[in-house]
Amino acid sequence: MNESIQNEERTPSRKRDHVDLCVGEDVTFRGKTTGLEKYELLHNALPEMNPEDVDTRVTFLGKHSTLPLIINSMTGGYEEAERINRELAEVCQEIGIPLGLGSQRQAMESGRFHESWRVARRAAPSIPIFGNIGAPEIAKGVETGTIQKLVELIEADGFAVHLNPLQELMQPEGNPEFRGVLSGIERLARELPVPIIVKEVGAGLSADVVQRLLDVGVRHIDISGAGGTSWSGVELLRSPLRESDNPFWDWGIPTAEAVAEARPLCEEAGATLIASGGISSSRDVAISIALGANIAASARPMLQTLMAGGQQSLTHLLREWERHLRYMMFLVGAKTVAALRNAPLRRI
Ligand SMILES: Cc1cc2nc3c(=O)[nH]c(=O)nc-3n(C[C@H](O)[C@H](O)[C@H](O)COP(=O)(O)O)c2cc1C
Repeated sequence: MNESIQNEERTPSRKRDHVDLCVGEDVTFRGKTTGLEKYELLHNALPEMNPEDVDTRVTFLGKHSTLPLIINSMTGGYEEAERINRELAEVCQEIGIPLGLGSQRQAMESGRFHESWRVARRAAPSIPIFGNIGAPEIAKGVETGTIQKLVELIEADGFAVHLNPLQELMQPEGNPEFRGVLSGIERLARELPVPIIVKEVGAGLSADVVQRLLDVGVRHIDISGAGGTSWSGVELLRSPLRESDNPFWDWGIPTAEAVAEARPLCEEAGATLIASGGISSSRDVAISIALGANIAASARPMLQTLMAGGQQSLTHLLREWERHLRYMMFLVGAKTVAALRNAPLRRI
């Protein structure tokens, strides 16, 4: 078989494995947490406002979001992904929050599952939606025109590039070739008509990496830190090696630390800072914003809720997060998400 036919078959089955393992197995970090639990918002008994004064809206990729929360990049490119993306998109449209779609590598290889991405925009005409591709494709020198077609497929407002060297290393069929990624990102940031988001997938972006991305013109950074889904863990479960002592399950920079370190750099550059990796409660959203994020993002917790209880459960969960976030903002006297970013934190 030639390489492209092999890939055409492997990519859908890998994306199916990822969803199945993320839903059915415990793939969270084992000996490391996000660090968000080490902080608490400082209670303010004189908020000098009423609960209805709270405004949770933010702007993301030029559009409104009713909450500072994104459902982060997950899937596309195999049969069932169409239903998952449609259902996620419908919930996002109802709540009014952004949606990231999963890697569109398979869409470059074949037209067979294009509908699994296209469905999102059809289901959610007005929310911010962004596409996705992995760094190895950038290293291979993918043309801007090819990425532009992926953007058009979903009428995207932005396009995410994921940096996942650890995942590629652990992935049985992975491709950890990262030479030339930064200059490829620089070219995309310059040539693509929509903003580029650069994200990790749960091992975190260090301050140095964030600075290098800002230096080449990236203005949307998702640090996607450690403490939530371990992508090394997911790939180790797929690996035939069955290693007994693998030091990489817990590899990575905890989300809280990555956000705090990226904050001054992003502020200086006027860039949007996204906090993800283990965001699994309204409290995580609030703390990550008080640490410096402009918006938070959650992936596996959203998928698990959808798969366990359907759209009703996910909508219910998001409404609950919205209500609790409002209460928290009231209790620290923050009328806006911008004010929440400056709310005092206590270390506990
Ligand atoms: C089932 C699943 C599939 C994912 N696929 C992608 C992907 O295709 N591209 C990407 O950038 N990130 C992907 N991710 C990573 C998430 O966007 C996120 O960075 C990571 O899971 C950490 O967030 P979490 O702890 O909320 O899951 C995926 C996550 C899940 C749960």
